[in-house]
Amino acid sequence: ALNDSTEENELAVPPLLEPKDGSYPITAQQGTTELFEGIQTETYGYNGSFLGPVIRIKRGDAVTFKTRNGLTEPTTFHWHGLDIPGKGDGGPHQIIEPGETKYVKFTVNQEASTLWFHPHQKGITAEQVYKGLAGLIYVEDENSQKLGLPDHYGVNDFPLVFQDRQFDDKNQLNFKAVHNDDGTIGNTLLVNGTLNPKLTVGAEKVRLRLLNGSNARNYTFKLNTGDSFQQIATDGGFLNEPLEMSEITLTPGERAEIIVDFSRQKSDSDIALLNEEDTILLPFKVKKEQTNSAELPESLNDYKVTDEERSLSVSKRLELFGMGKHVTINKKQFDMNRIDFTQKQGETEIWEVYNKPDPMGGMIHPFHIHGTQFKIVSIDGEDPPEILQGWKDTVAIEPGQTVKLAVKFKNKGIYMYHCHLLEHEDNGMMGQVEVN
Ligand code: C2O
Ligand code: CU
Ligand code: CU
Repeated sequence: ALNDSTEENELAVPPLLEPKDGSYPITAQQGTTELFEGIQTETYGYNGSFLGPVIRIKRGDAVTFKTRNGLTEPTTFHWHGLDIPGKGDGGPHQIIEPGETKYVKFTVNQEASTLWFHPHQKGITAEQVYKGLAGLIYVEDENSQKLGLPDHYGVNDFPLVFQDRQFDDKNQLNFKAVHNDDGTIGNTLLVNGTLNPKLTVGAEKVRLRLLNGSNARNYTFKLNTGDSFQQIATDGGFLNEPLEMSEITLTPGERAEIIVDFSRQKSDSDIALLNEEDTILLPFKVKKEQTNSAELPESLNDYKVTDEERSLSVSKRLELFGMGKHVTINKKQFDMNRIDFTQKQGETEIWEVYNKPDPMGGMIHPFHIHGTQFKIVSIDGEDPPEILQGWKDTVAIEPGQTVKLAVKFKNKGIYMYHCHLLEHEDNGMMGQVEVN
């Protein structure tokens, strides 16, 4: 079971980061966190001892991140899902040494979405994320501000970062002891870094921004009541309309925004988000007073795959293969000094990504591209399901599947693409595209 104890803690809601002297200060640091009563667990965090804040930015804004490495080892600051020039993307080339500070400047040029940030230090990304380096970025735009969706942060709009961890007999995160080359899996769930969490909500529609921030575990979210919920957003923006869903699956790195209507709950019923096999992910406590009861808008966005994009032929082919230490893309492992592909800024290309099964059957690889949001044109030649008809930066590819992506970079630079199972990334299931 992911959740053993019956003692529940109110879910931590990360602070919203305020700019200081014109920039958002973000410091990676190490510390200790009291996850278990009376016990200090050694952890990493941004601007605190564990996990990080939410950075809220708006389309059109000129933004500066002041990144600082307060750790005793090198790290990088990568902005997952952000359209940003390659030199600020925070891939493995952009190392920040202990004690160093670096400014990252860019103009927000993408639609409203829930993104995140985490380190990308070569070979130790999995370990640094596992210890607690992860935060969220909310992008807002004119559309998101006029739709009338629940957007009262920490009241009816909550980030939910799902991560599984394994604590040793001293309640420490001993990554090296539990590390697995096909993905480190833990038996203990944390949501926003809270152990055995519960979330108190009003009897109203509540927006939950789900991030699978785990190294390797997949989650299938559903409600214990059997009720459906509305999915409103994918990784990189709103769906065209709210989609009624009874469950959704997220692989590592993926996000979804959902609306759960707690006014429909019978007052005495317990409601909770469950995972597969009905393990509890997050129980809710519903306060009785009815608050906002506004209907959801019918139309949220105008995303589409154009005829032109459909008519383009494949110009990049990628083959994902292998397991453990032997993971490859196009039969190669990551090399910092090798550019695998080039692409022109502003030009759309079709990337065909094939997950080649190995003799053991292979495994799902969540395939991610830096510095862009892409469109899924087809999966095995068919239109993707409706929940994937929206901007994505990470797509789960099953063994034997072929996915066609329409990929365009708005900026120049060198960007990574890789499996977001973090141990596969560290083991070299990653390549580089240079955009010029
Ligand atoms: Cu979440 Cu290389 O990224
Ligand atoms: Cu990324
Ligand atoms: Cu993988």
